[in-house]
Amino acid sequence: MKDQKIQIALLGLGTVGTGVYKVLETQKQEMLPKLGVELELKKILVRNIEKAAKKVADRSLLTDNWQDIITDDTIDIVIEVMGGMEPARTYMLEALRAGKNVVTANKDLIATDGKTLMDAAKDAEKDFFFEAAVAGGIPIIRPLKQSLEGNRISEIIGIVNGTTNFILTKMTEDNMEFSEALQMATEMGYAEADPTADVEGLDAARKMAILASIAFNSRVTFSQVYTEGITKISARDIRYAREMGCHIKLLGVARNTKEGIEVSVHPMLIDSRHPLASVNDTFNAVFITGDAVGETMFYGRGAGELPTASAIIGDVFDTAKNILYNCTGHVNCTCYKTLPIKPMDDMIHRYFMRLQVEDRPGVLAAVTSVFGKNQVSIEQFIQKRKTEDFAEIVIITEEVMERNVKKSFEEFKGMDMIKKISAVIRVY
Ligand code: NAP
Ligand code: HSE
Repeated sequence: MKDQKIQIALLGLGTVGTGVYKVLETQKQEMLPKLGVELELKKILVRNIEKAAKKVADRSLLTDNWQDIITDDTIDIVIEVMGGMEPARTYMLEALRAGKNVVTANKDLIATDGKTLMDAAKDAEKDFFFEAAVAGGIPIIRPLKQSLEGNRISEIIGIVNGTTNFILTKMTEDNMEFSEALQMATEMGYAEADPTADVEGLDAARKMAILASIAFNSRVTFSQVYTEGITKISARDIRYAREMGCHIKLLGVARNTKEGIEVSVHPMLIDSRHPLASVNDTFNAVFITGDAVGETMFYGRGAGELPTASAIIGDVFDTAKNILYNCTGHVNCTCYKTLPIKPMDDMIHRYFMRLQVEDRPGVLAAVTSVFGKNQVSIEQFIQKRKTEDFAEIVIITEEVMERNVKKSFEEFKGMDMIKKISAVIRVY
């Protein structure tokens, strides 16, 4: 094997695929001394050969026919960076069953149906790695699966979406409203033409499903992650949070509790002194608490051409070493438990609430009475401003159960004195 080359096929030549192509080029001279074997990019699958030809030096690498790759027995590693569910899923399964190793960045697929792919890899005794699927260039899957394996992980908190972190940073630092900050994120190429997956928290939820599954050794899928985005956050919420010594961040929170796994993605107030509060712009960070290691934080670029390619090439090099030493397939699915997922209604948080109420005697007493009846204990009650039409009050609760907050809001709906529930944001 030492005199041979390991052949690779790349599926997709978009943002990440182009990064992978570039890093493979820049690492060319390093491969032999680093790995003991050279890696050669043999084929690149694209949809439009003319469009892709502008990005590669050798046009003969390009194909628009999957059969050119799946039937080529010399190809050992398939890198999938097309994205989406199909045909990515079918191609990866076919590749594994044909005895090829697979590296992917496809969080959508792994968060929904990762088990099928991992089982196929196990059956085939091949590697299936996906470091790039969570937090782009930040090493987090391998640390969780290997370096931190000696821990019982109790909590993971992540800022795992760069677009929303950029928007919230602009809203915080430049007092922008959400729509203005989103427009800026689009102009700068961070937000996609359809930003729904980012701003509604879906992208972060996929990443948290993957992280929770690995950290707690029990499968969590995308649909089990309670998800709220940042579209309702206003500059006023951020300003009030700052006055209270907090930042607002879109946080993924996963906890391993006695009653089951808690996993959710939503905006949260977080103390400005917490290390995650100073993670700004498009940066990502994952804060992990383990019983042996204590608190540890991973920080870096969560997306982009080269940072994401960095994670993929790490996986490819690992796979190449495993091929060389004939030990592919030894890092399998780590979900050996089946833990329940705790319903959101049972979760306990502190809450920041901003309400518009009629400005007349008895209103505050009525509000506190509803909370009292529903066991929602109040920590702070502040009247923030008064207009001709309403008074604005901000309430911070003690730790209370989500279902009790919901019950209170149901009662508010029938009370004319409550004009609007302007914001309800959990506090970390
Ligand atoms: P992208 O820019 O849209 O690139 C996808 C590429 O795959 C496009 O060139 C597309 O061709 C090609 N493609 C799609 N379907 C194909 C098919 N059936 N056959 C051949 N080629 C096909 O996407 P990306 O941003 O590189 O993301 C790729 C993957 O990495 C996704 O799973 C994404 O979630 C993940 N990821 C991305 C980032 C990031 O920063 N972008 C970070 C972490 C993970 P056309 O150009 O013809 O459409
Ligand atoms: N759209 C993602 C983000 C990058 O903004 O972080 C891809 O995971």
